[in-house]
Amino acid sequence: MQMSPSKIRIADSFAKAAGSYDTYAQFQRDVADTLLSRIPDRKTTRILDIGSGTGYCASSLMPVYPQSCITSLDIADAMLLHARPRGNSECENWVCGDGESLPFFDNSFDLVVSSLAMQWCTDPVMFCQEIFRVLKPGAHAFVSTLAEKTLTELRESWSAIDSFVHVNTFLPYGEIVKCLGQVPFSRVTSNNQQEFCFYSSFNALCKELKGIGAHNINAGQRQGLTGKDKFRKVKAHFERNAENDKGTSVTWDIVLIEMEK
Ligand SMILES: C[S@@+](CC[C@H](N)C(=O)[O-])C[C@H]1O[C@@H](n2cnc3c(N)ncnc32)[C@H](O)[C@@H]1O
Repeated sequence: MQMSPSKIRIADSFAKAAGSYDTYAQFQRDVADTLLSRIPDRKTTRILDIGSGTGYCASSLMPVYPQSCITSLDIADAMLLHARPRGNSECENWVCGDGESLPFFDNSFDLVVSSLAMQWCTDPVMFCQEIFRVLKPGAHAFVSTLAEKTLTELRESWSAIDSFVHVNTFLPYGEIVKCLGQVPFSRVTSNNQQEFCFYSSFNALCKELKGIGAHNINAGQRQGLTGKDKFRKVKAHFERNAENDKGTSVTWDIVLIEMEK
């Protein structure tokens, strides 16, 4: 698999976090649960999970679809190594690959799921086109992703200190909807909702982002170390709005999408 430098950076970042991912990924599991709860009860034989991480979606889907084959695909090989021991179905596959260039034949799956991976893709239209291509006619895909307001509080704290990109950026919801409109699905529905999670400190948030592999992997970041003085300032800025026993509220801008081919 040929990968651009930015994809290699993303794959490395998630691979490094594979061992700690499950400890820090409560929010990701909650989003996956919401996404999977939307899947109507239908007969399926071949399911694909794109950006499968440590295999949470496959392990939730297996008891519901015991007769199905589930393929988990991720760009980070170490994530798949952590997912494998979780598997307990007769028919399960783990594939290292890119969601924007799926190594599967056209019309080969009757359900595609993908939770919180689309936002890491270079081209969301290509990501959706690939889903369209591998879905059988009439089959559905359920995808969650993150939009623009995600981590606003952290981004604002850093921008009060310097002009480097310290926090990942995400597309506005309207742009995501436009991308979906460029792929010839027969039906697409999506919705956008913001959730607020509380973090006891700036360090707790950074530790969680690092633990899941999602610390700053966007272009435009500062090369080299950021000084202790800057960290002290940004921490103080971030924590200035902390509520007594709860900590600081942080926005997660969640998008849930259903697509039918
Ligand atoms: C936030 S994790 C979500 C994992 C899992 N879906 C879950 O809900 O726990 C994002 C995953 O997407 C993978 N990923 C990022 N870019 C990808 C791409 N272009 N193709 C396939 N997987 C990708 C990462 O390696 C990581 O495992």
